[in-house]
Amino acid sequence: MNNLLEGKIALVTGGANGIGRATAIAMARAGASVVVADIVPDGASETSREIAHNGGTAVPLECDVSSENAVEAMIQSVVKRFGRLDCAFNNAGIEGARVPMTEFLESEWDRVIDVNLKGTWTCMKHEIKHMLDRGSGSIVNTSSVAGLIGMKGSTAYGAAKHGIIGLTKVAAVEFADRGIRVNAVLPGAVRTPMTDRLMGNDPEREAMYMSIQPIGRFGTPDELAEVVVWLSSDSASLVTGIAMPVDGGILA
Ligand SMILES: NC(=O)c1ccc[n+]([C@@H]2O[C@H](COP(=O)([O-])OP(=O)(O)OC[C@H]3O[C@@H](n4cnc5c(N)ncnc54)[C@H](O)[C@@H]3O)[C@@H](O)[C@H]2O)c1
Repeated sequence: MNNLLEGKIALVTGGANGIGRATAIAMARAGASVVVADIVPDGASETSREIAHNGGTAVPLECDVSSENAVEAMIQSVVKRFGRLDCAFNNAGIEGARVPMTEFLESEWDRVIDVNLKGTWTCMKHEIKHMLDRGSGSIVNTSSVAGLIGMKGSTAYGAAKHGIIGLTKVAAVEFADRGIRVNAVLPGAVRTPMTDRLMGNDPEREAMYMSIQPIGRFGTPDELAEVVVWLSSDSASLVTGIAMPVDGGILA
């Protein structure tokens, strides 16, 4: 592919599946040593094995990003293992229940917000602390097109994804003059285990997902990975605080 991340140390959360897995593999191909973190340790190991099989360097790590203690321990473990952290892709997320707002449960709200929104904040908090010591770093957060527009049935998910864009902008302006860039990617409909769960083998739901995407097909995890690798790299040195749709034209 390229050597955009040659010699960098990268962290990917939600690296066992879908967009995170593809990005961990792409980052390694671009020259980074990658820590693949996920709540499912076997999946993180599987991604790491694939990277190693292709000649790259990867370390799996179990982490539940909804726990700040676990997130802090994850970052400490990256720094202990590699001495620093250059790039972070805060991507772990869950879809949550798809029901009308009036039926949405408080417990489900807490679960989705804790993983998607609080998890992104605590990851940034501890990543940035380490990046500040070195005076450089690049962070990419995964939001969604549901972070800019309302989508029916996505109460907590939509709130979290809007919130991630807000967090991204706050961090970008707080740390821009200290060498740290923070951006968000907004996937549209990308074919992953998450979208498979949401569609549940229902051709009508699949057709609905296709119909909102002007490009006329699902995005692939690799297409997201390409963008994240670039945003993470020094080639994007002037880019910070953006919420970048990677959505086949949905938001257009
Ligand atoms: N697939 C899409 O169409 C789409 C669209 C917009 C946004 N997104 C976002 O992209 C990101 C990745 O989605 P995906 O489609 O690859 O999903 P996925 O379900 O295929 O993969 C998500 C990964 O996150 C991990 N994870 C879940 N909870 C975690 C936790 N508490 N701590 C650590 N890891 C955890 C899962 O084990 C899984 O490996 C998510 O934030 C999602 O909201 C996806």
